[in-house]
Amino acid sequence: MPKIIVAIDGYSSCGKSTTAKLVAKQLNYPYIDTGAMYRAVTLFFLQNHVSQTNPKEIEIALSQVQISFRRHPELGRNDTFLNGLNVEDEIRKMYVSEKVSDISAIAEVRHALVAQQQRMGRTKGIVMDGRDIGTVVFPQAELKIFMTADPLIRAQRRQLELLEKGELIGLAEISENLKMRDHIDTHRSESPLRQAEDAVYIDNSLMTLDEQVEMVVRLADAKIASS
Ligand code: DC
Repeated sequence: MPKIIVAIDGYSSCGKSTTAKLVAKQLNYPYIDTGAMYRAVTLFFLQNHVSQTNPKEIEIALSQVQISFRRHPELGRNDTFLNGLNVEDEIRKMYVSEKVSDISAIAEVRHALVAQQQRMGRTKGIVMDGRDIGTVVFPQAELKIFMTADPLIRAQRRQLELLEKGELIGLAEISENLKMRDHIDTHRSESPLRQAEDAVYIDNSLMTLDEQVEMVVRLADAKIASS
């Protein structure tokens, strides 16, 4: 059976990752959460007080960052590891969310992570989500999805996600963070978030998770059949 690349891009907290994970499971493909990679680099920069403006310091820091994903034996989720340490919970915290858009706008950071992502998808058969997967990482991806949802719904979903991890944050603070990240993500000079011309646009505000997953799997099956 031919293998394809499924690239899912879109705004923060619009359900990309949840959808991508389930689509990958149904297609029996690995899933790569590129947002987690940018979050892991952000955590490293914060922990090591790396300058955001000194190119030499940034290059040295990036050469010390090793990111990998491993399946959690009990929870079954895909955990993010930074230099061998499980940072899955830490990278989702608010203090990382507040800095991640700035760090991911640094050209050197993007070049290093895009190269790693391209290596991960070399043999195809992968579902990857992020902001620039269909435009920069895999412009040749067979299936591109651009996902969005109403800002209030996105904030509510994010609030619930944080609550499940024990962080109680007000809706106003979350909305502000999402708005700020949307702005930085869409206005940065290095590969800003934008819909690829050949991407399928999905607004999932009124869709159930099952409906979204089914829609993407159906599109993927059609691409596999015609590949
Ligand atoms: O998907 P997320 O919210 O976990 O992503 C965190 C941040 O990482 C997001 O604000 C923008 C950045 N990001 C990026 O610039 N490019 C990607 N491919 C994925 C994420």
